[in-house]
This record gives sequence, structure tokens and C-alpha cells, in this order.
Amino acid sequence: MSSTPKALFFLAVLCFSSLSAFAENENPGLFMNYYKDSCPQAEDIIKEQVQLLYKRHKNTAFSWLRNIFHDCFVESCDASLLLDSTRRMLSEKETDRSFGMRNFRYIETIKEALERECPGVVSCSDILVLSARDGIVALGGPYIPLKTGRRDGRKSRADILEQHLPDHNESMSVVLERFANIGIDTSGVVALLGAHSVGRTHCVKLVHRLYPEVDSSLTLTMLSTCSTSAPTRSRPKGGPIRENDRGTPMKLDNNYYRNILDNKGLLIVDHQLVTDKEDQALCEENGQEPRLFL
Ligand code: HEM
Ligand SMILES: *[C@@H]1O[C@H](CO)[C@@H](O)[C@H](O)[C@H]1NC(C)=O
Repeated sequence: MSSTPKALFFLAVLCFSSLSAFAENENPGLFMNYYKDSCPQAEDIIKEQVQLLYKRHKNTAFSWLRNIFHDCFVESCDASLLLDSTRRMLSEKETDRSFGMRNFRYIETIKEALERECPGVVSCSDILVLSARDGIVALGGPYIPLKTGRRDGRKSRADILEQHLPDHNESMSVVLERFANIGIDTSGVVALLGAHSVGRTHCVKLVHRLYPEVDSSLTLTMLSTCSTSAPTRSRPKGGPIRENDRGTPMKLDNNYYRNILDNKGLLIVDHQLVTDKEDQALCEENGQEPRLFL
């Protein structure tokens, strides 16, 4: 392996050779500053890379935030989201649930910066989680201290992800049940969906609210940009997009709640928060209290 030119290393090789010194099932658990002795600069390097990437490609921060939802929802955070499909198995990032996910190659940029300093030490799952933490700060969100020491998984299965991860058009009871299965209650779900205060949604994910009949609860201005999107049905990849929060698209703030209370929630799951009494009350609190949301 050491004779392989660096340029030929693929993300999977970089990531899944990390921590090979540990026995497979000997997991010492998570700690604050887990890399304190093995790679003391690890968290600073990640933070620096996230900030550099954010300067060049603002939307990387959206990706880091969305990554943790997709990676951590199923069998904890293990970076299985980054694995490619094999001949026999469709991977997590290739399922339709992961539609629109982007910037995976910049995880590689962060990993390479770490490799230069401490080769083979920091796991990709810790990079995924810490980059989200630093991305949230770049978007004006709070700094969240986090433990590290995660292990990378070796299996990535689209079918398992689909069983657990709610779809864009799921009913609120299913969404709440799925989150409850991983120990997150209603107020937690309402807070987490506030992530849709940044980033984009492809019109193809809204098509169900436009065809065959226009969802009358959708504010009309939302339609104007997507109604040109009829071709997206035959062109399911790419196609037009809508900013999740037109007011403050680059800020992780509580504007999401004011939007959905104004019937400007884009996805069916967003809009449903205002059709249920308990959720609606939580949205009103979050919408009024910026600090509560943060
Ligand atoms: C019921 C739960 C959820 C569903 C069904 C859902 C679904 C979606 C969908 C369909 C998109 C648009 C993708 C596209 O068209 O490009 C999206 C975007 C996004 N989601 Fe979620 N999501 C959920 C929860 C979350 C959570 C918990 C987070 C993070 C904590 C999150 C973070 C994001 C971000 C940041 C984007 C924008 C990504 C970008 O612009 O690249 N989502 N989500
Ligand atoms: C949700 O949308 C997908 C396509 O994105 C469709 O296959 C599925 O049947 C829909 N589910 C519900 C509950 O409407």
C-alpha cells in the first residue's frame, strides 16, 4: 500500500484504512477531544478546511449539515454514506432518498489535509460529524461541542436506509415514529427540520404538490418558479430548484418556522408541521424565539 502513489488513493481507501490498528470490535467509546494525543490538531484542521471550503463553495456547509441526517439516522454515524455501490449492493448515497446530495469530493479535501498531518488516524465518521458542527457555525448557527472516536462502517445499504429514513412526502405520524425509534421526540424533530432553513430543494421533489392537482395550501408565489418544471417529470435528475428559505438562504436561523407558518413550506414534511396542533405550537415558539431554535 505504501508504494501506491497518493493520487491513486480513493476516498474509500483513505477512510477505511484508518484505525486499522484497532481490533474490529474493540470500541473504546466516544470522548471529548479523542484525538488529543494521536492528532492534537485534528479538530482545528477540520475547522480550517471547512472555513476555506466555505469561502470557495458556500453550499458545502449545506452538505455537511445534510450529511449527518443521512449518515447518523441509520445505525449511528459510521460514514457509510460515503461508500460507493458494489456490483451487488446499491449504496446509501445512490438511493433516491439521497437525491440532490453533493460535495462529497470535498470531504476528501478535508481528509487529505488530515492525512498530511497525521496519516491514518482520524475516522471519516468523525470528519463527517465535525464538518457539520463547523458548517453550522459558518451558517451563523451555534457552536456545538462534540465527542469523537467514531468508527467507520464497511457496509452501505440503500435498502436499509430506505426502511428508516423518512421520505419527502411521508405523513407526520410516520416521520415522528421514525425519529422516535432513534430517541428523538417531537420537539427534537421540529428543531431538526429547521435545517431546511438553508439550501435548496429540486422542483422534482415538489411535483407531487403540483400534479395532477395543485396543493391549494401551497402559497402561489412558490409555484411561479416551479411551474415551469413540468419537464422535470421526464427529466428527474437536475431540473429547476427552489431555495428552501428565500428570506435568509445562507443563514441557519428560525426563518424556516415563519415560512412554514406562512404556508411557504416546500416539502410535504415541512408543510405538515403546521397541520398538526402540537407541531404548530412548537413552530410558533421557534419562530418567535431565535434563541430557542439555536
Ligand atoms: C423528515 C425528515 C427529512 C426529510 C424527508 C428531508 C428531505 C429533504 C429533501 C427532499 C431535500 C431536498 C433535496 C434536493 O432536492 O436537492 C432536503 C434538503 C436538505 N435537508 Fe432535509 N430532510 C429531512 C430532515 C433533515 C434534517 C434532520 C437535516 C439536518 C439536520 C436536513 C438537512 C437538509 C439540508 C441542509 C438540505 C439542503 C441541502 C442542499 O442544499 O444541498 N434535512 N431534505
Ligand atoms: C412519495 O414519493 C415517491 C416518489 O418520490 C413515491 O414513489 C411514493 O409512492 C410517495 N409516497 C407517498 C406516501 O405518497
